[in-house]
Amino acid sequence: MKRKVTKAVFPVAGMGTRFLPATKSVPKEIMTLVDRPLIQYAIDEARAAGITEFIFVTSRGKGALEDYFDRAPELEASLKAKGKTEILDLLLETNMDSGAIAYVRQNQALGLGHAVWCARHLIGDEPFAVLLPDDVIAAEKPCLAQMVDAYAETGGNMIAAMEVAPERASSYGIMDVPPSIGRVLPMQGMVEKPAPGTQPSNLAAIGRYILSPDVMRHLGEVKPGVGGEIQLTDAIAREIEEKRNVYGFRFDGQRYDCGSKAGFLQATVAFGLARPELSTELSNFLIDMVAQRQAAE
Ligand code: G1P
Repeated sequence: MKRKVTKAVFPVAGMGTRFLPATKSVPKEIMTLVDRPLIQYAIDEARAAGITEFIFVTSRGKGALEDYFDRAPELEASLKAKGKTEILDLLLETNMDSGAIAYVRQNQALGLGHAVWCARHLIGDEPFAVLLPDDVIAAEKPCLAQMVDAYAETGGNMIAAMEVAPERASSYGIMDVPPSIGRVLPMQGMVEKPAPGTQPSNLAAIGRYILSPDVMRHLGEVKPGVGGEIQLTDAIAREIEEKRNVYGFRFDGQRYDCGSKAGFLQATVAFGLARPELSTELSNFLIDMVAQRQAAE
């Protein structure tokens, strides 16, 4: 039986060491692309896919993240009094209903799989989505909404997929799929961060998942994998071993790896250029910068 996906898990417990010193006091997920925090992009994408229950798996030092989703009554009142309705509307759009977000705590950094497992009591016996806010996907139709539509046809489990260069495969969960140009790809296996040269394909998992509650059960049973961590990929691999359907889904859109500095900067430029009020000034600046660099070479 296929059930509607209404719950999503956002693993946001990571320490953000790659962005130190900024992440000393600012949670990584609050870092902004133009003027919206990374987490806002993930929330917007989940909402557009019909998600109504948002589960954040947090850790120590993530208080700013909880505050971000609270109302800001003083700010709202002052914007209203000043007649700044546009900014006020922008702010109101980000408000979440009371109780829409639940926070669970991961009290030890034991891996992505363990973080997801921390949400088990709130997920219960329902399919659920997982969104990794580091993976920001620009798309006409948001990626998770594309997946929800495909999932309505297939059921099972579905994971966003993207080709990566062979030398990058060891940074990802890699799907074992027969060569195909299709959009929905039945998987025969999945391996987390394969050693260079051993990857079963160049199709990598990107941080959008629709998973069956069985995967939660596997997460409670799998042993630590790559890096000594409980891996989500290993629980998904077990689902395949148990002959349940797991599909890779080639989404339409451009993915930015905002867990890396280069990816974060690329996303900043791309999202800036996509803003009508910024695009001319920013693109002129970029053209000048590139010309100056070329002249200096
Ligand atoms: C995680 C997953 C990996 C996936 C990647 C996508 O890895 O473990 O399977 O391919 O996200 O961004 P991480 O980037 O946390 O090392």
